[in-house]
Amino acid sequence: MSSFKEKIDTTRLPKHIAIIMDGNGRWAKERGYDRIFGHQNGVTSVRETTETAAELGIEYLTLYAFSTENWSRPQAEVDALMELLIDTIEKETPTLTKNNVRLMAIGDLSRLPNNAGEKLQRCIAQTSQNTGLALVLALSYSSRWEITNAIKNICKEVIDGKCNIEDINDDLISSHLTTKSIPDPDLLIRTSGEIRISNFLLWQIAYTELYFTETHWPAFRKENLYQAISEFQQRDRRFGK
Ligand code: IPE
Ligand code: IPE
Ligand code: MG
Repeated sequence: MSSFKEKIDTTRLPKHIAIIMDGNGRWAKERGYDRIFGHQNGVTSVRETTETAAELGIEYLTLYAFSTENWSRPQAEVDALMELLIDTIEKETPTLTKNNVRLMAIGDLSRLPNNAGEKLQRCIAQTSQNTGLALVLALSYSSRWEITNAIKNICKEVIDGKCNIEDINDDLISSHLTTKSIPDPDLLIRTSGEIRISNFLLWQIAYTELYFTETHWPAFRKENLYQAISEFQQRDRRFGK
C-alpha cells in the first residue's frame, strides 16, 4: 500500500500546522470505556504527531489541548486531564530533547494548578535551546480571551502615550497576542468530524487552510498527518489576490 508520505513535496511544507485534537471522549465511549481512557490514548497521538512533524521538518506544531471553556467540564474530568498533563510533560521531556523539540505554551497558564504550571515551565526552560520543531501547547486557551487581553494592553499603551491610535494595525495587534513570536498557521486540522473552530486562533487563521477529518484524535496516526499535508499541497492559496 502506498503512503501519502510519498505524495508530499518536502520543499513546500506548511511552516506551521495547528490541530484541534477532538474526539477523545467519543473514541473511548465507542469502545465501552470511560472518557478519560480516550484522553490517555490521545497522548500516543500527540507523541506520534510530534515525532512525525519533527522528522518532516515542520517548524511549528500547535496543539489545542485544553480550552478556557473546558474548565466547565465535570471536575473529575478536569482533574484527570491536569494529571495527565503533568505526567506526560515529565515523561516526555527527554524525548523532546532527543528529537530537538522546543516546548512552548499559549493560554491563561495562571489558571493551571500550581504543580502543572511548574512542570510546564520547567520543561519549557529545559527545551528552550532546542532548534528543531517548536511544539506549542494551547492550554487554558481561548481566542476571545487572548484578543480581549490584547485590546486591554493596547488601550493601556495608548493611555500611557506609548502608542498612537493611528499606529494600531494588523502587525501591532498580532504582536500583542500570545502567539506573537509564531507565524500564522498554514494548515489547521480538526479531528472527529466537527466542522467548527471552538474559539481557537480566530485572528491567526484568517488565511489558513482548514482540514477536517472524521478520525477521532486517539486514532490519529502518521499516515493521517501525511494525508492532511498532501491535501494541503493541492490547495491553491490565493490570499485574496
Ligand atoms: C478532546 O476530546 C480533548 C479535550 C477537549 C480536552 P473531547 O474530550 O472533546 O472528546 P469528545 O469530543 O467529547 O469526543
Ligand atoms: C475543542 O474541543 C477544544 C480542544 C480540543 C481542546 P471541544 O470538544 O471542547 O469543543 P466543542 O465543545 O466540541 O466545540
Ligand atoms: Mg470534543
